Amino acid sequence: MCGIFGYIGKKENAPDMVLEGLKTLEYRGYDSWGIAWIKENKIEVVKNTGKIADAKGIQLPPANSAFGHTRWATHGGVTLANAHPHLSRDCTLALIHNGIIENYSEIKKELIEKGHTFLSETDSEVALHLTEEYYKNSDSLLEALHKSFSRFEGLNAIIVMDAKTKKFAAVKNGSPLVVGKGKDGNYLASDAHAVLPYTQDVYFMEDEDYILVDDKSVSVYDGSLSKKSIQYTQLDWKPDLVSKGMYPHFMIKEIHDQVDVLERIIQKKDSEIHVLSEEIKKSFGTYFVGCGTAAYAALAGTYLFSKIAKYHVNFTVGSEFGFLADFLTDKSLVVALSQSGETVDVIESVKKAKEKKARIASLVNVLGSTLNRESDVSILLSAGIEKAVVSTKAFTAKLAHLILIAYDLSGNIEVGRKYLRLARDSTKEILTTKNLKIISRLAKTLSAKEHIYVIGRGLSYPIALETALKIKEASYIHAEGFAAGELKHGVIALIEKDTPCISFVPLDETHGSNLAGAMELKARGGKIIGISPQKHDIFDIHLPYTDASVASVIPSVIIGQLLGYYLALEKNVDPDMPRNLAKSVTVK
Ligand code: AGP
Repeated sequence: MCGIFGYIGKKENAPDMVLEGLKTLEYRGYDSWGIAWIKENKIEVVKNTGKIADAKGIQLPPANSAFGHTRWATHGGVTLANAHPHLSRDCTLALIHNGIIENYSEIKKELIEKGHTFLSETDSEVALHLTEEYYKNSDSLLEALHKSFSRFEGLNAIIVMDAKTKKFAAVKNGSPLVVGKGKDGNYLASDAHAVLPYTQDVYFMEDEDYILVDDKSVSVYDGSLSKKSIQYTQLDWKPDLVSKGMYPHFMIKEIHDQVDVLERIIQKKDSEIHVLSEEIKKSFGTYFVGCGTAAYAALAGTYLFSKIAKYHVNFTVGSEFGFLADFLTDKSLVVALSQSGETVDVIESVKKAKEKKARIASLVNVLGSTLNRESDVSILLSAGIEKAVVSTKAFTAKLAHLILIAYDLSGNIEVGRKYLRLARDSTKEILTTKNLKIISRLAKTLSAKEHIYVIGRGLSYPIALETALKIKEASYIHAEGFAAGELKHGVIALIEKDTPCISFVPLDETHGSNLAGAMELKARGGKIIGISPQKHDIFDIHLPYTDASVASVIPSVIIGQLLGYYLALEKNVDPDMPRNLAKSVTVK
């Protein structure tokens, strides 16, 4: 998962524009970064390890074509040599790459035998040398790239910069790449929002698309290099959606965005929800798939569909789906949940489901993403651009859509809207300054803890899992979510005096048994942090929210999100870009 940004056109500040573009894409990977530009007939490059903000006094020269890359290390450690862009010995070719070339080592051996020497441990540098090798015997950069890319196994996006012809050539399969057509030049980026400050006309490259870009034109070719006509999509996104505004981090901004996101979803037309509930009604078996936070939303969906619509839906995490997909038929419906629409384990699951002729539906946040385009039916989450690696508003947007779909299936979509309005208002109360101070103070007392346990049951079980994930990702504190009923089957051996135990206790059929779970923990010394509409003597600390019936999953998880955020501040972790993570996991 890396960030890619390029510009070629009339403007003379291409390197600076690339730097700004990389900053907006840094959530995709932030181990190292680099920028290359054409100066006369040669290419110059600057590289740094660490985040862009760590580099002081960056001075970039004028140039009208440049590209850059922020890296999430796959092959080779975090070193300057392994940072992209990779440069040919004669400084006339440069390459940036997102993905994994699975067969790179055999190709590298072949190139070494031909006299190539390598400066890095990366698979990406192999792509550069192989393209350079083919370019020696061809006058077409595109053909050289086509020959080298055709040999690669794996999911990749590659851009090559050529100082001689002053063109970029690019190709993708699996990793995202977007072309932006501006009035004074052309742009390339991993995500569409990065080109928003310059143009709203974008083309979402399809798998096996090849493109040739210069300062005047964009030419697109299919996998056999036959020219293809393309349609640009006009984005109606506003550039300011991509800024933190008055907030110190994207994560807290996006937590606060959730009130507006819920309002947008409540306002959706019935027809936008029907598209999916009709698919579910037509299918013989519905299967949810997602990863990480999206997986927990999918798990919550199984409870919501059972409770509200009396529908049985299955759920599997994306990385396991392929081992369970043999039962799928052409009557099956696979519903993929994903914020980015690029998570490789979800895309692979969808591809396996398509091999079984199953129908594909998706709840996805990024227009034009692979999942959005690969689906027979796709509902956009309308959560707005989510930049923080630690996902928040995309999660509650998935929950809100699942609630509406479940109520639509039971013929009561208005009831779903009613509960979402309660959840929206309950969220507003949670986000008051007074309440934020309470959660921030709690984070101070928990920040020195090594382990935090989170329990829930029924609908609050996936919420417990998601809250534990927020705490882990944002603060690096070990947190584990459990089904409350599972404590006595081993987990309770871990509880010591003052072990912090967060207990979700919603006012539903699980209320009594969740309290019982909390009592078991308390009896063994656990410190009970109750997240519930009602206080209870068992709670050492009570974090309240106003009940919203089944939609209580939303305000209750927002308390969990805030706890994760304030713990990150206490641990001096950047919640927008935690170590080892990236916003979109596009490599296996
Ligand atoms: C969530 O906070 C994590 N960043 C991660 O678990 C994420 O949800 C997962 O990688 C799936 O991403 P997606 O929703 O873009 O598919």
